[in-house]
Amino acid sequence: MPELSPRGVAVPRRRLSHSVLVDADAIREAIPVLRPGGDAFDVELGVRFAEHFPTLHRLFRDLYGHLPEGLAALVAVVDLAVTTWRERPEALKDVDRSRSANPAWFQSNTMLAGVCYVDRYGGSIEGIRRQIPYFVELGLTVLHLMPLFASPEGNDDGGYAVSSYRDVDPGIGTMEELAGLARDLREVGISLEVDLIFNHTSNEHEWARHAVAGDVVDGVNYEDFYLIFPDRTLPDAYERTTREIFPDDHPGSFIQLPDGRWIWATFYHFQWDLNYANPEVFRAMAGEMLFLANQGVGIFRMDAVAFMWKQLGTACESLPQVHLLLQAFNALLSIAAPGVVLKSEAIVHPDEVVSYISPQECPLSYNPLQMALTWEALATRDASMLNQALERRHNLPEGTAWINYVRSHDDIGWTFADEDAAELGINGFEHRRFLNRFYVGREPGSFARGVPFQDNPRTGDCRITGTTAALTGIEAGDPGGVDRAVLAYSLALSTGGIPLLYLGDEVAQLNDPSYVTRPEEADDSRWVHRPFYPAQAYAARGDRTTPSGQVFSALTRLIALRKRTPELGGGRLWPFHTGLRSVVAFQRPGWTDDLPRVLVLANVGDDGVHVPAERFAGFDRVAHELITATDVALRDGVYLRPHGVVWLHVTPR
Ligand code: GLC
Repeated sequence: MPELSPRGVAVPRRRLSHSVLVDADAIREAIPVLRPGGDAFDVELGVRFAEHFPTLHRLFRDLYGHLPEGLAALVAVVDLAVTTWRERPEALKDVDRSRSANPAWFQSNTMLAGVCYVDRYGGSIEGIRRQIPYFVELGLTVLHLMPLFASPEGNDDGGYAVSSYRDVDPGIGTMEELAGLARDLREVGISLEVDLIFNHTSNEHEWARHAVAGDVVDGVNYEDFYLIFPDRTLPDAYERTTREIFPDDHPGSFIQLPDGRWIWATFYHFQWDLNYANPEVFRAMAGEMLFLANQGVGIFRMDAVAFMWKQLGTACESLPQVHLLLQAFNALLSIAAPGVVLKSEAIVHPDEVVSYISPQECPLSYNPLQMALTWEALATRDASMLNQALERRHNLPEGTAWINYVRSHDDIGWTFADEDAAELGINGFEHRRFLNRFYVGREPGSFARGVPFQDNPRTGDCRITGTTAALTGIEAGDPGGVDRAVLAYSLALSTGGIPLLYLGDEVAQLNDPSYVTRPEEADDSRWVHRPFYPAQAYAARGDRTTPSGQVFSALTRLIALRKRTPELGGGRLWPFHTGLRSVVAFQRPGWTDDLPRVLVLANVGDDGVHVPAERFAGFDRVAHELITATDVALRDGVYLRPHGVVWLHVTPR
């Protein structure tokens, strides 16, 4: 079937252009530093080129082989990679070398990530720099700074509408300051993570302005950077199968330009999707990525990956080409800046989430299923769904890891698989409705003070916003609130991968309802859980009579403990069956199967429970409970208080 191009013309699939079948030797001929034996030869680069170019080449052939300009783009990106490496600061090359020598670096039990907004948490890049001693005290090894690039005042989607990837938002600092911050963080063992928002740009990005004006600059036709249609014919056709992402902002996936044409905008009307079917777009974004890599970014959070490729008659989410694109970005980094790691943000069906995770694509990924089911378990006081997910969907391929988190700057979507729920006799649709009611405090027994996000009465879809303290009951003064918050983080800290702390959660930061008074935020309830630096809560963190002090002391203890417990590193997880519905239970094996393990038990129920002795028959009689540092005689079974957590160091018999 012919493909439909954005302009609505049927384009027959051309045969692979033979020009893209250029081989590595032809490239070596054109780029002297890659030519072994030549004066300019760079051995490290040459070795990596030999290893990764064939992959990049194959991906380009698959993505762009039918286009005459495919070859030019491939040669251009290789050229970019070479220049990036040549210009890469020596300190970053050292990071490349050490990470390449130890590719499991992010699997260590010493890893801990934190995330915050530069403006809200530190006021500026300089303000964030001043927090470094605190980040060290906490034990962070990764700092994810929320989008900090130039973006239009008001129409910025919290920084996710970027108008220049090479400029820091002037209100918070400069690119030089960012590079300096990355350097200072690196010196204390913290890797800088930033977003690569590459599915879309702001409508005020230079590319977008050129696109609307129909400009061709230096031979680049910017109209083809986005998906612009003369009328509703194709938009209507696409919308038959796409889903609405921000229905509060605009229905469907398109918005109308002042001149009457239609442009693809999956998220806000001012965020225009890039057209990755155009190899020029790949090249341009590769340039931005490599530029940032050389500023000292160690991890890229690949924003909204699922939406990067469109094809008529499909949901236009997670299409095979998206994977090829990510693999191509990865291959490019492997040549140019091999220490830099990609983390995928795919908040989609669990089967699709894992499709992004591999050493060749995104070695790191958010774990939205564990996050959502942690909240599900707390609401239902039933750990069945979470245990099922841990048993069935947790283990990942070698060389990859989850980012385990409790909440992010975004809403909580109930992304579990309906099939999994059905096996437990749960109707997914009804259950999501229950959870939404629960977390906005509309169910009896609810302790939560969440706010609905993108409530769509037409589809029944809705998501939840709120800080951890607001959703666990601390804000409502529920007596179980502090323990629930600690329990939720204890899971993120014990299931492996990299645990991620939303900075402020460790001092029980509450919701900030004042967003409704700011017109540019009022319509987006996610601002309720993106509050400003909670100075008071931080000041109270040493005071155990306050929730801030209680959460802080418990979390810092767990963090320190994790760093001393190698079994909690890596990602392998085995189930453990207690026979009790309210108990989350799993084992974290050490490096080999017969070594001591950590057995995690967490009671999401409001009542204490007793795990009977026979469940522990496979272990030596005495276990060591790590959190309280006490020995436990397993012949008595294990008592778990309401919302109680134990990390038992057990030895298999
Ligand atoms: C991601 C971000 C979210 C943003 C969206 C569009 O999902 O996490 O905050 O609104 O992408 O960029």
